[in-house]
Amino acid sequence: MSALMQTYARLPVTFTHGQGVYLIDSDGRRYLDGIAGIGVNSLGHAHPRVTAAITEQAGKLIHTSNLYHIESQETLAQQLVTIAGMDTCYFGNSGAEANETAIKLARLYGHQRSLSRPTIIVLEGAFHGRTLATLTATGNRKIQAGFEPLVAGFIRAPVNDISALEQIAHNNPDVVAVLMEPIQGEGGVHPLDTAYLQTVRELCDANSWLMMLDEVQTGNGRTGTYFAYQGLDFTPDVVTTAKGLGNGVPISACIARGRASQVLGAGQHGSTYGGNPLACAAGLAVVDTIVEDKLCANALQMGQLIRDTLVQKLDSNCPLVEIRGQGLMLGIELDRSCKELVTSALASGLLINVAADNTIRLLPPLIINRDQALQLAHGVADLINSLN
Ligand SMILES: Cc1ncc(COP(=O)(O)O)c(C=O)c1O
Repeated sequence: MSALMQTYARLPVTFTHGQGVYLIDSDGRRYLDGIAGIGVNSLGHAHPRVTAAITEQAGKLIHTSNLYHIESQETLAQQLVTIAGMDTCYFGNSGAEANETAIKLARLYGHQRSLSRPTIIVLEGAFHGRTLATLTATGNRKIQAGFEPLVAGFIRAPVNDISALEQIAHNNPDVVAVLMEPIQGEGGVHPLDTAYLQTVRELCDANSWLMMLDEVQTGNGRTGTYFAYQGLDFTPDVVTTAKGLGNGVPISACIARGRASQVLGAGQHGSTYGGNPLACAAGLAVVDTIVEDKLCANALQMGQLIRDTLVQKLDSNCPLVEIRGQGLMLGIELDRSCKELVTSALASGLLINVAADNTIRLLPPLIINRDQALQLAHGVADLINSLN
């Protein structure tokens, strides 16, 4: 029996190393990685620039704690706020922690405005993490069940429904913020309507709410712009990100601007590891590479190629419902449960994932090239066609 708590149903494969978009298992078999560690390995595996940055840093200093200045942390924060069009940045170690930071920031913002029960609007179908506050914010009962009592101070709203938000605004003077993913990832790759997001921005301004976007999955170039909101016509007050930021070295960021940027003060939040020299060395190498190698543009082009190839290759009578997403965050919804496709894909040397039971989710590395994108699209199309 394994000494691990059985919190994951793992596939029967162990990878020993990787190279670019490929992973190699303990039998020497090579797999095309269409999921990149759940959207984490944006530069693929063993990227020379990340490897060099972390080995060099590990030879000097791994950790000092936030009792002291960390130069690379200041530099990475400056880069991220410049890219995001924001003002300040806090570093944590996971997506859930970045969202906890945003939640605490919003509550404090409320208390500073004399609201004793600050409340955050969250959406049905959302996923924000597994800590108590973030699983409460998550709109999926399966993730919450058994962990009651949940955390107070959240109101759930249906997606893309402005009148529901207006009603909440009318009935709840305690609302201080909204928290939403621009594209719901774990929920099955559902992009929120652009017009909805723009109106949410206006509602936030009109009611002095903070607009907080969870870009843990969509951030760091995956959807074709550095942050997904940059493809739209507004800037949130707070954006959280993680996954692609460290290419596998744990690091997350909560980035804020304007009235949100100076809310958290000394002693009000912290993390022993957050933004340590090793994580920031990785983050800097990743951000520089995404920008210099124009990986946002590549994500957009390769995403379109995968979509077009799927449309071309899928049989007209296959169980496809629709293809959703943006850049290299793609959801292919089928008219049935398709979890077993993950195992058939593995057998054919392809790593994919299924979200919301019926949606194949692709989150390949942003460095994927044309041939590899075609290989991925053909492999996925063959799997879907085989369901007929
Ligand atoms: C949108 C979103 N938010 C938060 C999280 C939680 O991130 P982590 O698992 O790093 O805590 C995830 C993870 O899948 C996510 O997709």
